[in-house]
Amino acid sequence: MPVLAVIGCQWGDEGKGKIVDILSKDAHTIARYQGGHNAGHTVVIGASEEGGKEEKYILHLLPSGIIHPGKRCYIGNGMVVDPKALVKEIEEVEAQGISVEGRLFISERAHIILPYHHVYDQNEETLKGSQKIGTTGRGIGPAYSDKYQRIGIRAVDLLDEEYLEKYLRENLESKKLLLNNRYNHPGFEFQSIWDELMEYKKKIAPYIHNVFHLICDDITQDRKVLIEGAQGVMLDIDHGTYPYVTSSNASVGGACTGLGIPPSSINKVLGVIKAYTTRVGEGPFPTELKGEEGNYLRDHGHEYGATTGRPRRCGWFDGVIAQFAVMVNGITDLALTKLDVLDNCQKIKVCVGYKYKNVIHDEMPASLKVLENCEPVYQEFDGWMSQTTGIPTFEELPDKAKTYVEAISNIVGIDFSIVSTGQKRQETIMIKSIF
Ligand code: GDP
Ligand code: IMO
Ligand code: MG
Repeated sequence: MPVLAVIGCQWGDEGKGKIVDILSKDAHTIARYQGGHNAGHTVVIGASEEGGKEEKYILHLLPSGIIHPGKRCYIGNGMVVDPKALVKEIEEVEAQGISVEGRLFISERAHIILPYHHVYDQNEETLKGSQKIGTTGRGIGPAYSDKYQRIGIRAVDLLDEEYLEKYLRENLESKKLLLNNRYNHPGFEFQSIWDELMEYKKKIAPYIHNVFHLICDDITQDRKVLIEGAQGVMLDIDHGTYPYVTSSNASVGGACTGLGIPPSSINKVLGVIKAYTTRVGEGPFPTELKGEEGNYLRDHGHEYGATTGRPRRCGWFDGVIAQFAVMVNGITDLALTKLDVLDNCQKIKVCVGYKYKNVIHDEMPASLKVLENCEPVYQEFDGWMSQTTGIPTFEELPDKAKTYVEAISNIVGIDFSIVSTGQKRQETIMIKSIF
């Protein structure tokens, strides 16, 4: 099956980076389609796997496949790209011995994040006070706003200095009013932004291409394409817990618009879900554990944001969300991650419905009021109380761990193809080949 999309099925940070890394070895191309450097995808390569030295990579804009020499990586038109962050990330991976030359391709149509987008994002959050979204402050929402207002600057514009100067000047002029009046910010001088942009352009211009054409060619030639989602379904601008979401379509629909490929060309959709639930930032989280149990999951799962370092909120597995994610994305295969984090839990709970005003909702409610005030209906499982990290086959897992995994699989109606029991590549149980 040549085109496989990997999608986060919760509120992000499900372990997509690890799963994409594992699948990348069989791919020709790895492509991101939405989001920007709000994403943080971690790949850890164990000492025994990589010439005796453990390596950790945190990818924000570059597809996780970039760490595989020779694989082609695309930044799709649906992404928003901060040139400064991209240059920094390229330099970081280069310092780790990875060359992106000849295999990184940035869509001409991808929109550019500029310094005023950061200022707008951070100041809007401050003005919202207790109603803040808890964004990453990276300018993601404001850059997408400009895109939809049809005043954005795209990667292709970096290659046309006359056009770029005209539109940058116009943008700076109109933003200045907003920055002055709403945020008491002095605004930005054209020359300093221009000079900085020209510096970044030197580094990234060779990578700007017609990515739409490249991916169509890959598909026509039957080359294996791995599509890497960022964030997760519950952060999707349409299907997530609006307004506590990101500003793009993280679900699989975004892959069609964000790369320019037809839905019929995506053969498989792999959903990635964590054995429990986490969320960074504000917004409703029905199964959140605020006390000791939440702290336990955070400590044992090292649940701190890969982008901002913020502590992630933690809670039990939410089957309502998982079922919804399967439906919205047409999930055909599933990967379960971080099973090992539950190794020492005596009792483990799984949410199978939301109770609100004596009515049980087993479908995802759109209303924030329902989500914020509902009481999760739980099924309880005995913990297995032994280590699962590195167990090579599903059959060898402790019986109670198998029962837990199978219960989740029954709730969502899909069997697991992958079960992950640690950060490293070899700490993975491959149950079924997908790609
Ligand atoms: P992503 O944004 O979906 O790629 O996920 P992140 O990289 O932000 O967060 C997932 C974290 O969990 C990373 O630190 C991974 O290295 C780690 N991780 C992934 N799978 C496993 C697993 O099965 N067990 C454990 N303990 N850690 C894992
Ligand atoms: P990956 O790809 C988890 C969250 C932010 C905030 C909301 C909006 O690593 O799973 P934004 O800066 O996008 O406007 O913030 O979305 N968020 C993420 N949470 N993982 C991510 O990416 C996220 N990207 C954005 O915390 O709640
Ligand atoms: Mg992440």
